[in-house]
Amino acid sequence: MRTLIKNARVIDPASGHDAPGDLWLEDGKVLEITPAGARAAQKNDAVIDAAGAVVAPGLVDLHVHLREPGEEYKETIASGTRAAAAGGVTSVACMPNTHPPIDNLATVEMVLSKAKQQGVVNVYPIACITKGRKGEELAEMGELQAAGVKAVSDDGEPVASPMLMRSALQYAGMLDLLVINHAEEKSLTGNGVAHAGFMAAKLGLSGVPRSGLEIMIARDLLLAEETGCRLHIPHVSTAGAVRMIREAKARGVKVTAETAPHYLALTDECLATYDTNVRVNPPVPEASDQAALIAGLQDGTLDAIATDHAPHSRREKEMEFALAAPGISGLETSLSLVLTTLVATGKMSLLEALRRMTANPAAILKIPKGTLAPGADADVVIFNPEAERVIQAKEFVSQSNNTPFDQWQVKGRVLATLVAGQVVFFDPAFEGKIRKV
Ligand code: DOR
Ligand code: ZN
Repeated sequence: MRTLIKNARVIDPASGHDAPGDLWLEDGKVLEITPAGARAAQKNDAVIDAAGAVVAPGLVDLHVHLREPGEEYKETIASGTRAAAAGGVTSVACMPNTHPPIDNLATVEMVLSKAKQQGVVNVYPIACITKGRKGEELAEMGELQAAGVKAVSDDGEPVASPMLMRSALQYAGMLDLLVINHAEEKSLTGNGVAHAGFMAAKLGLSGVPRSGLEIMIARDLLLAEETGCRLHIPHVSTAGAVRMIREAKARGVKVTAETAPHYLALTDECLATYDTNVRVNPPVPEASDQAALIAGLQDGTLDAIATDHAPHSRREKEMEFALAAPGISGLETSLSLVLTTLVATGKMSLLEALRRMTANPAAILKIPKGTLAPGADADVVIFNPEAERVIQAKEFVSQSNNTPFDQWQVKGRVLATLVAGQVVFFDPAFEGKIRKV
């Protein structure tokens, strides 16, 4: 079975390709990119007319909470992967802070088998660093890796003990397994619910100081440097963190880092409404931090943009700010927020922005994704980067619509998403462009 996606602007950050052309897929793999109209479709080929649209590798999101097992009222593997597809995301790495946590072989296998049966995008389960995410004893990393795990994290909770974190890096390092440590020093962050700045003080919200996050990042960078092991820092939100990661990279420390679209789109000014959808961990800091994050993305200090998609039900958000669960349902807004905040503003080219959502996260996870190279899996997003749209939280495919971006006017509309050559999402208005010859 062959598919032609024609008349597109084809962008493949992995090879630096950005030109008008046609993308050919065959039997679930990328066949080739040809100049527009170079070859005509044959009988039985499927043809997608992508005139005016960008065709790129499907997005790879290395930080997603799918909530299954245990919190299926927030999200399931079925609903979360459909939300991913709607957002142009074709591969997700899902965090293990489920109930039970993903810290053993049986749970990994359960997630993988559900993903195979009910998921519409590729799912890479991240397993726990420590048993039960308790920070006491390392999980069986070798066994977890043999089951297909690419990374370990106790996300939501830091590995508090420096000694245990050092061992985790060493064990994982021997296996070439990625360690992602939630960077938070609880004695400093305490019961803080917002960035400790002018806004939190004015509104009477307890604060999270930047040092509460940065002390843990500093510690982990020291441990990664000393052990020579690979470390990934999730949801980087502050200027100081960007500076330390930049310096560590310059010294050759094997560190990679991600930030999230909400830190690019919001500052702590947004706390003024007390909208609990703004409550996220780490909290949204100030404009000076946002500028540093953008500079970090521009110079490669920050490798990836990942959503930290954290669905929560209305029950957990409709309450006073300090009691609401932290997190933002992000899969269906990430591409638009990146296009609006980075690309439309001229801060980053479309190719470079997409690199941080495709080839870079795939390289961090060491998965063969995020490229349109011939022979690669035919995971593709087709989107209009210029389309203006108003975000409608109530229309989210995700089971949860906890977003601070409802009613925001943004750029970018996903027209279709393909996984292994199969259409897993299409915008109803785009349906007529998909046909058989
Ligand atoms: O805002 C957050 N929500 N940050 C985390 O680290 C965990 C996540 C969740 O699981 O809801
Ligand atoms: Zn997370």
